[in-house]
Amino acid sequence: MIETIRKLVETYGPSGSESQIRDVIMEAIGSLADEVSIDAMGSIIARKRSGEPDAARIMLSAHMDEIGVMVTHIDEDGFLRFTGIGGLYPNTLPGNRVLFADGTIGTIGVEAEVTPTIAPKLEQLFIDVSNGKDHGIKVGDAAGLCRGLEVRGDRLIAKSMDDRIGCAIQIEVMRNLKKCPHDVAFVFSVQEEIGLRGAQTAAYAVDPHLAIAIDVTHTGDTPKGHKMAVALGKGPAIKIKDGRMLASPDVIALMEKAAQAAGIPYQREVLIQGSTDAAAMQLVRAGVRAGCLSIPCRYVHTTSETVDLNDVQNAVKLLVKLLESPVEF
Ligand code: CO
Ligand code: ZN
Repeated sequence: MIETIRKLVETYGPSGSESQIRDVIMEAIGSLADEVSIDAMGSIIARKRSGEPDAARIMLSAHMDEIGVMVTHIDEDGFLRFTGIGGLYPNTLPGNRVLFADGTIGTIGVEAEVTPTIAPKLEQLFIDVSNGKDHGIKVGDAAGLCRGLEVRGDRLIAKSMDDRIGCAIQIEVMRNLKKCPHDVAFVFSVQEEIGLRGAQTAAYAVDPHLAIAIDVTHTGDTPKGHKMAVALGKGPAIKIKDGRMLASPDVIALMEKAAQAAGIPYQREVLIQGSTDAAAMQLVRAGVRAGCLSIPCRYVHTTSETVDLNDVQNAVKLLVKLLESPVEF
């Protein structure tokens, strides 16, 4: 699974520019689904059929896009000014590198007059792509953060764990799911980081009876961290509430039951700020029973998003157990 994760996290794919990561995922799912389509927004919908005429439709969603930057202005010396794609923390950016679609790597610099001990504003930063000649980058071009996967025992560190780890989990669930009494749509959504946009339209098309997002969540296990009862390595977290949704009680109960049946540890998640595809899926059409299985992650939206492989593998087990079992609601 590590090599799948490496390929996913190291691939370019800021929101709205998902074609490269979509190709990687399409190759990884290969013939694991009975039917695969790409919708008008660019999300992948991979379906596994039960063969039963009245089977319940279950939608899983992990977003394939990542946070990034978009060029807003280029000065006469070729330095780029940029805006954020999704939630960037300007204090984490100076000295980091970004990757453009054509493979160009830029360095993020800070205006010299900014006091080094004070966090810069986004508009005080620029990207240096100088190569001694015209670099060919245009206004409107998007870049993602740039950093390879680091494996430190069971801890995996990379940019874009949010939410390529969710994509890796879905692929692994597809590999492990042998028989299933439901029709399952595995969605790899686009544009989550700028407003849960791909999952919203995909959920309309799938029209699920039940929807579960798979995404990262914050932890409370670092020095002076928030008082949050989620830690790395203590199991996947079943979302109760986040900044935009209350998970449907039926879905919470179903996931807790699946965790117990699979014999895996799990945590209960109350996240103060931020949300996932689940919030969008819940409000499609006349409303959908929706929840989220979260992977605890330190340093979300930085180049060093850190997860624990045990939580990842246990999330796979929980989802396989849930999908194999009859669902009543
Ligand atoms: Co995110
Ligand atoms: Zn996410």
